[in-house]
Amino acid sequence: MRTLNDIRSTFLGYFEKQGHAVVDSSPLVPRNDPTLMFANSGMVQFKNLFTGVETRDYQRATTAQKCVRAGGKHNDLDNVGYTARHHTFFEMLGNFSFGDYFKADAIAFAWELITKDFGIPKDKLYVTVYHTDDEAAEIWKKVAGLSDDRIIRIGTSDNFWMMGPTGPCGPCTEIFYDHGEAFWGGPPGSPEEDGDRFIEIWNIVFMQNEQFEDGSMTPLDMQSIDTGMGIERVAALMQGTNDNYATDLMRNLIEASAHATSTDPDGPGKTHHRVIADHLRSTSFLIADGVMPSKDGRGYVLRRIMRRAMRHAHLLGAQDPLMHRLVPALVQQMGAAYPELGQAQALIEETLRAEETRFRTTLDRGLKLLDDALDDLPADAALPGETAFKLYDTFGFPLDLTQDALREKGRDVDTDGFDQAMAAQKATARAAWSGTGETADAQLWFDIADAHGATDFLGYDTEQAEGQILALVKDGASVQEATAGDEVMVVLNQTPFYAESGGQVGDSGSIKTDTGVLDVTDCKKQADVFIHIAKLRDGTISVGQGAELSVDHQRRSTIRANHSATHLLHEALRNALGEHVAQRGSLNAPDRLRFDFSHNAALTAAELRKVERQVNDFIRQNTTVETRIMTPDDARAIGAQALFGEKYGDEVRVVSMGRADTGKGADGQTYSLELCGGTHVRQTGDIGMFVTLGDSASSAGVRRIEALTGDAALAYLSEQDARLTQVAGQLKAQPADVADRVKALMDERKTLQNEVAQLRKDLAMSGGAAASPAVGDVNGTSFQAQVLQGVTGKDLPSIIDEMKAQMGSGAVLLIAESGGKVAVAAGVTADKTATLSAVDLVKAAVAEMGGKGGGGRPDMAQGGAKDVAGADAAIAAARKVLEA
Ligand code: ALA
Repeated sequence: MRTLNDIRSTFLGYFEKQGHAVVDSSPLVPRNDPTLMFANSGMVQFKNLFTGVETRDYQRATTAQKCVRAGGKHNDLDNVGYTARHHTFFEMLGNFSFGDYFKADAIAFAWELITKDFGIPKDKLYVTVYHTDDEAAEIWKKVAGLSDDRIIRIGTSDNFWMMGPTGPCGPCTEIFYDHGEAFWGGPPGSPEEDGDRFIEIWNIVFMQNEQFEDGSMTPLDMQSIDTGMGIERVAALMQGTNDNYATDLMRNLIEASAHATSTDPDGPGKTHHRVIADHLRSTSFLIADGVMPSKDGRGYVLRRIMRRAMRHAHLLGAQDPLMHRLVPALVQQMGAAYPELGQAQALIEETLRAEETRFRTTLDRGLKLLDDALDDLPADAALPGETAFKLYDTFGFPLDLTQDALREKGRDVDTDGFDQAMAAQKATARAAWSGTGETADAQLWFDIADAHGATDFLGYDTEQAEGQILALVKDGASVQEATAGDEVMVVLNQTPFYAESGGQVGDSGSIKTDTGVLDVTDCKKQADVFIHIAKLRDGTISVGQGAELSVDHQRRSTIRANHSATHLLHEALRNALGEHVAQRGSLNAPDRLRFDFSHNAALTAAELRKVERQVNDFIRQNTTVETRIMTPDDARAIGAQALFGEKYGDEVRVVSMGRADTGKGADGQTYSLELCGGTHVRQTGDIGMFVTLGDSASSAGVRRIEALTGDAALAYLSEQDARLTQVAGQLKAQPADVADRVKALMDERKTLQNEVAQLRKDLAMSGGAAASPAVGDVNGTSFQAQVLQGVTGKDLPSIIDEMKAQMGSGAVLLIAESGGKVAVAAGVTADKTATLSAVDLVKAAVAEMGGKGGGGRPDMAQGGAKDVAGADAAIAAARKVLEA
């Protein structure tokens, strides 16, 4: 038997031999398309190669592309499980030529591979061509020798392939396989074409046109080839069945489901097993590609698929969560071809298990409510929209899950009623919201959120993506267009730009459309709408355009490093200082990080060193930074740090990093575990290094640490080192000896200062410094007055004390001048203070030298003056005080 894995490698190997580069499947979340929810065909990743916008070092490529068709235009979800060929996930094998070979080779390759390598009998094959494409019909005749009745001309869009409303497109030729008379159905183009007998297995698109937004279509400069072969269908026919679910790969998954639930794979639970097998593939691959279950956008599509599978598991009677137990079987089947599956296995299992555990808490009650509601209704009546809405709102039943449950009973839902109930709830929420006194400006954003829904954030996985411009706001009002120089706020359906929150600053970068370029300086969030704050550098831009979005990579990388370092710092502080340490604020900017935390005392140098060391230890440990989505309760249960007073939604992101025996995390081995919506490095080693700039007080009981990482940390340390080298040079010492040298110098300085003071005193006492000594008996009091050069005010009191001691009884006035400053001091011995105050002497003296005031005690007073030229007059004025 040719297994599906064998068919895949035969296909890729065949085209490799024909000179094609074997290119990996692109992720399911397209980076290069503004409107596509999931990759839905092989050519998506090559879109720009067909239009010539981009070139690569190959002109031929072959891929096995992961595709999801659930949500958006191509939505097969409703039929999965009930039909032979509907899938939410499938693989499209393709070969591509970018301006290299065209129709003749493309047809010849396909024919050879199918009939020779795959050995599919020629007489079972039919082809279609676009009704005007004589060239393709001729080639088929020549290459395959098909008779005219097997080359069917189709005039409808069925044979003109377009990837979407715009983009590269062209006529196509399709290959059909006839499963034989046992099945009902007719050849393509016949009224019975939708039957199970004639099945399309391969589509070859002759890419030769481009469709534009305005409806025009022009020929492309080069002619290219895009093909798609559904591997599940080819595997089915090669394995002698026309049921995709009977092929080896799907069968193995179905058997895993049957085994895990101890049920018969082909018994009454057959449909459930098929749903589970299909949904296991789509949910696992979506999670591996970074989609997490959520309330909106892609995350909600994932959730819908998960919950639909979980209801079917429940119907099989599974008592415990089932889906996560089937992941190993899937990895065994597809892990070799898609290594991302094995790499993300733990994340996939955990996400499925958590979602199923949670959904089970409401599933039973919801189903009971549904049954009761149906019992109360006349047979055949549709379920009221309000009931379906209650199931959605209270029990977490996506609408399609309710529809799926009703399908088995042959009943319907009043979907209009559901939409009305949903709209009514939004209106109530909005009324409550506008009552909170928010500004009119915020009202505008709420209107935009209402019209377009939340922005899908892609920036956890990519820094570049395409998006569609949904709204432009200029000077506080919505506009349709902006022109060069305009400062505008731009809203898109999806974005890789991080909007400021949780201490992490918003991203900057650029937005490019066909007609203009915007420089984005910041990104903020209002009501889940991402607002890109930008200036139009060039041209014009308008609402509705597709745009290439690119985040400033360098800046984002440093922000990531700083944010991850903040988590390590938080944990290191708790280890060094105690469990009371809790985050009180943070800033994760490109150039630095700041972390405020509860703690009462300044950190000692030893504590800071310990913290810094531990952060660096975990950087070097270089473990992968992991992110999970869980309920806040589950997150707390495994020890995640939550922010005090922060409101969390139903789901939180939990970021973990570092291995240590902490008892935290699912395995008790996680060092840091925090609830966080920010962006982080992949491995802790990406932080590079960490250095603190010290700690300071932020507010009462809150300390603040600022720190640097990576290049900034290195630059800081180099600068410090250069400074040290410079100082060492000036000290003529080795850097290692600088501290000792400085201490020695400081000691020496102190000694010298003391000596200088003593010398001045000695000089003054010896009268050597006196410019005009005035000594004598005034009114019965011995009076000495001197002007001292080079003596400061600080030295005066001790000189006065000594002079008073020598005199025994009397009064002293000293005027000192040093460095342009004039100081005055006076002393009166204790026996004279009853009648004479030193304060009066000083006041009288300073007044003569342009000073004012002066003060102290009767026995010792001081003052300052401006001009020593008045010294004689000052001494005379003091004498007058004694004379009085
Ligand atoms: N892109 C073409 C398809 O999806 C091959 O059918």
